[in-house]
Amino acid sequence: MNISIIGTGYVGLVTGVCLAYKGHKVFCVDKQQRIIDSISRGVSPIYEQQLDSMLAHVIKNDELKATADLSQAVMDSEITIIAVGTPYIGGQIALTYIKKAVYEVGAILKNKKDYHVVCIKSTVVPTTTDTIVLPILKQASGKELGDFGLVMNPEFLKEGEAVQDFLNPDRIIIGAIDEKSYEVFKNIYQYHFDAPIIKVNPRTAEMIKYASNSLLATLISFSNEIAAISEEAGGIDALKVMESVGLDKRFTPKVRGELIKPDATKYLKPGRGFGGSCFPKDIKSLISFSVKIGYDPKILKSVIAVNELQVGRILCTLKKELLRIEDKTIAILGLAFKANTDDVRESQSIKLIKELMEAGAKLKCYDPAAVEKAKKELLGCDGLEFFNDYREALAGTDAAILMTDWKIITDIPFSEYVKFMKAPAVFDCCRALDHDKAKLFGVKYIGIGFRK
Ligand code: UDX
Repeated sequence: MNISIIGTGYVGLVTGVCLAYKGHKVFCVDKQQRIIDSISRGVSPIYEQQLDSMLAHVIKNDELKATADLSQAVMDSEITIIAVGTPYIGGQIALTYIKKAVYEVGAILKNKKDYHVVCIKSTVVPTTTDTIVLPILKQASGKELGDFGLVMNPEFLKEGEAVQDFLNPDRIIIGAIDEKSYEVFKNIYQYHFDAPIIKVNPRTAEMIKYASNSLLATLISFSNEIAAISEEAGGIDALKVMESVGLDKRFTPKVRGELIKPDATKYLKPGRGFGGSCFPKDIKSLISFSVKIGYDPKILKSVIAVNELQVGRILCTLKKELLRIEDKTIAILGLAFKANTDDVRESQSIKLIKELMEAGAKLKCYDPAAVEKAKKELLGCDGLEFFNDYREALAGTDAAILMTDWKIITDIPFSEYVKFMKAPAVFDCCRALDHDKAKLFGVKYIGIGFRK
């Protein structure tokens, strides 16, 4: 099929490249010439594993074209996927970019004879597609449903694993406004992906996306609450608790005694809390949507509240362990909101750094990919140094805080903490290190959900 994609951020570009890779002809539409030039050269404007090589491949084979010409792209395609941003402003998502894109597509459809399906891929709260997008499309095109189609097709892409998530989805949700839209749109996926296609209406599709992220965030906050109770009680290892909980067959199915997914307990791991461009924003947006329509969502509010406590709890523990923070030098290992990305949006590490600066600590920060973005985020903060080598960040410090579980960080041998730090003490906020091994090397170990 010929497919246009509006918006070439994480979602739009990964979707475009993967659909082109699967044999479709894709037009990626963006207004920024810098982005179009970069894509046209086969160089991904975003940091995402596997994306560069796949982009180069589809550009070389003429399967993907980047363009600013929306009109031509829509005219030459059967489906337009809208994957523009939905910034979180004033306690809810702003639909400015969505509305604008929908209006522009609608206006082009006015002059298009062939049936065309518009797809909303951006995350939008339930009722957006049928009560906001549909009327705009009708008005701009001067046409009725049936002359054009409309679907809501949410994405479940994790940054850092987005390509693999797209190529191997757990499920494909198609929220179609009518049967004809579904029949046409499903051809994108039908012969190319080995995953169940779930046909629903647009509101259900919108809710599936929010419910999915909310459940994952709930599991994280739940694990962190169990960790907090365990810390206060002392002598409990909350990581062992949650790993054991996760081994219940109801969470982690087994085939012939083998775990299907060895990392199935992932979202049940105590840690520094969740961040990123999706979880905090999506849960807060669902809360405000829910309140607006008259339901007070108690669990979702607690999920955010527990997450917002995490940085304060880390700081509190640190103050207890180091006695005085203001005359200490601390290494921050990891700035990105999670491993395998340079993204620092809503990063718990950045939030902790701000708190530590406020408390007067001297900080030496390391991240294998996110240093530049973190510098921008922390512009104007004094007493802060950045390093591209973790050994330099560790040198002469009184404590190291492990905030992002990049492999290069979790693989740091304990002998190096001993060698480079003034006083080898590690605060493991990702529960990625072996505390028994730390002890053997004479490294003091503190972990989320782990107190002697
Ligand atoms: C998430 C969803 O997983 C994805 O399906 C959706 O499309 C977009 O939002 P992403 O934000 O890229 O993806 O990251 P994810 O890997 O899910 O992690 C989100 C946050 O939770 C990160 O801060 C991560 O560090 C944290 N997390 C994740 C934990 O604290 N513990 C875990 O066990 C897993």
